[in-house]
Amino acid sequence: MLIVGNWKMHGDRQRLAEVVAIDRHVRQGCAARVALCVPATLIAAARGSVEAVVIGAQDCHQEQGGAFTGQLSAAMLADAGAQIVVIGHSECRAAGDDDARVSAKMAAAIGAGLAPILCVGETAAERDVGRTAAVVVDQARSALPAAIVAGLALAYEPVWAIGTGGVPLASDIAAVIAALRDYLIGRYGAAGRGVPILYGGSVTAGNAAALLGIDDIGGVLVGGASLTADSFVPILAAAA
Ligand code: PGA
Repeated sequence: MLIVGNWKMHGDRQRLAEVVAIDRHVRQGCAARVALCVPATLIAAARGSVEAVVIGAQDCHQEQGGAFTGQLSAAMLADAGAQIVVIGHSECRAAGDDDARVSAKMAAAIGAGLAPILCVGETAAERDVGRTAAVVVDQARSALPAAIVAGLALAYEPVWAIGTGGVPLASDIAAVIAALRDYLIGRYGAAGRGVPILYGGSVTAGNAAALLGIDDIGGVLVGGASLTADSFVPILAAAA
């Protein structure tokens, strides 16, 4: 199991105490691989304060460098200490990342040696017209690399479930995972079985065990509940 926390635009240096506390728990023995995608300002300090937790970024620019004021390249994030990066989060897609840019960001991340977690997910309107599987498979098709790279993972995050407390039925999540798995096997052959497919969207200590019990789920991507050790550690415990 892979359990990833996405801190979004939360956290100052004081909050590094939570990274340390989460890392302490993981060091003491944890069934899951655990990663925290912290704000870029905290990556170097977080990396320097952990032994067991993987530190990641939440996004990267698609270009390798140049006149892109305010942006961060994948290589810069790797240089700061990031080992993984979330790409195509719905909040980034909503802010302008179309399929072409998400695909370019995947290539940039891979080029810099970051393990990419590609987020896919349907809106409520797409769900309501029965397009969920088509939407997520289209997003995967357009952004996945030609060959599997180390650490590649998919995260199924329904847009309507992020930060809302709403979670799909387990059977609906299982159906989406199955559709993505079929696509991965069609694209990569048997190796496609090994790409973890995570679920994300309103994961909490209360629902983590049930979610992690879904057939073929590879882990969870956790937003709000990853911000403190108190709320995140019980989710890690649910992976046992
Ligand atoms: P949430 O966010 O757990 O706060 O719903 C998940 C995400 O955006 O990755």
